[in-house]
Amino acid sequence: MATAATSVLPELDAEAFARWRAGGGRMVDLLRAVGELGPVAGFRLGDRRVVLATGAEAVQQVLAKRTEVYVKRGHRVKPLLGGGLLCAAGEPWRRQRKLLQPQFTGRGIKAYEPQIRAAVAATAARWRAAAATGEAREIDADLRYFSLDVIWRSLTAHPLDPETHRRLVAAGEGFAAIPAFAPATGGAETDFREANEHVDRVAEHAIALAGQAEEPGLVQVLLRAAAELPDYTERLVRDELMTLVVAGYETTATALSWLFLLLDAHPEQRDLALAAGPAGSAERTAAIRALVDETLRLYPVAWLMPRYAAEDDVLEGCPVEAGTTVLVSPYLTHRDGRLWPDPEEFRPQRFLDAGRRPATGAYFPFGLGPRACLGAQFSIRETVLLLEELLPAYRVRVTEAPAGAGYGLTVHPDGPIRAVLHAEGDK
Ligand code: HEM
Repeated sequence: MATAATSVLPELDAEAFARWRAGGGRMVDLLRAVGELGPVAGFRLGDRRVVLATGAEAVQQVLAKRTEVYVKRGHRVKPLLGGGLLCAAGEPWRRQRKLLQPQFTGRGIKAYEPQIRAAVAATAARWRAAAATGEAREIDADLRYFSLDVIWRSLTAHPLDPETHRRLVAAGEGFAAIPAFAPATGGAETDFREANEHVDRVAEHAIALAGQAEEPGLVQVLLRAAAELPDYTERLVRDELMTLVVAGYETTATALSWLFLLLDAHPEQRDLALAAGPAGSAERTAAIRALVDETLRLYPVAWLMPRYAAEDDVLEGCPVEAGTTVLVSPYLTHRDGRLWPDPEEFRPQRFLDAGRRPATGAYFPFGLGPRACLGAQFSIRETVLLLEELLPAYRVRVTEAPAGAGYGLTVHPDGPIRAVLHAEGDK
């Protein structure tokens, strides 16, 4: 039962809305303006009622505490990923999550660590060769290749091959164009026919490779489920497999791209992390982890999460009517001066200060509650292992940086990142 509302929902007025439209009409600017009205505030888009929840308590309520009220409805990538975990709901979602969860906890991930380390070694070898030429290269492409290689090896126990890479890049191109939240109802739907063709071929290939592999991979977990459980159809194996690729690849690669851009602007932070302890020490790992945490504070890649209010409710005293779209944005919450001192500054140390961990609901790059990211620990592990290898070995000087950020399904650098790699020798 919802408690009684104690205040009126602040709403963006027509004048502010017109100013936003005149200023270019980017969704992120609209949400910023709404967020300034308070921790819970509303606006209207056509006949659609929207509430933005940025306060820590409201975020917790939407994502973790009242999930029966705030439901995930459909997903714009459903035509591509079908009944996979990201788009599933209700009982099928619960069963699918239960099946995969053990693979993504600390112990489960250990089984994939050799695959992650092999992908790290392959990337390190490419960078060694590139550093020797002294030429600038597109490091964002390297980072995408790395994260795709990691997930592919974990699925199939085989390194990424050029044909699969080509198909997945082609399938992924459409994603960048999908908005995180469509400003209008209706409108042109993304045409996923070509992407689906690539995805089908890649899934077939993954299943064939997994059959030949000597070591177990995630695909075998899915195939075993298909053999034992009637609900686990061939189609679901394909959807789940591709969900893991799609949810895990661009997200991790984008976080790494932001991290190298931030370190280019703050080179002292790389030096501080390396000085925290010798290679392999817990101190150095913690300092590198803090670089990742702070990057994900400023650029939580999945920056906007829509939910649908199935019932009336009250959020931080404000009424929310059934039928409202409720948006939660780690991007806005993580930059809220009411929750974070000097929110725009890149200060990884804030994650190292004992006793100053952020409040639940103030920091959630991987979401919160039952629908939180399945691959959070996996992603952190691959990122830290890669950085432990690359950061001591190279100074990365960015020679061409994108002008800003793009805000689609992900918040991403809106262009390629070219950089020269200067080898440092062992440290
Ligand atoms: C920096 C990297 C990543 C970020 C920022 C990220 C972020 C997120 C967020 C915020 C959600 C929740 C969305 C919502 O509640 O609406 C999510 C869900 C999910 N993520 Fe990630 N993710 C990352 C990496 C990964 C990786 C590496 C994998 C898999 C290998 C993965 C698999 C998933 C899946 C399957 C879901 C759906 C979970 C469910 O609904 O039960 N993610 N992710």
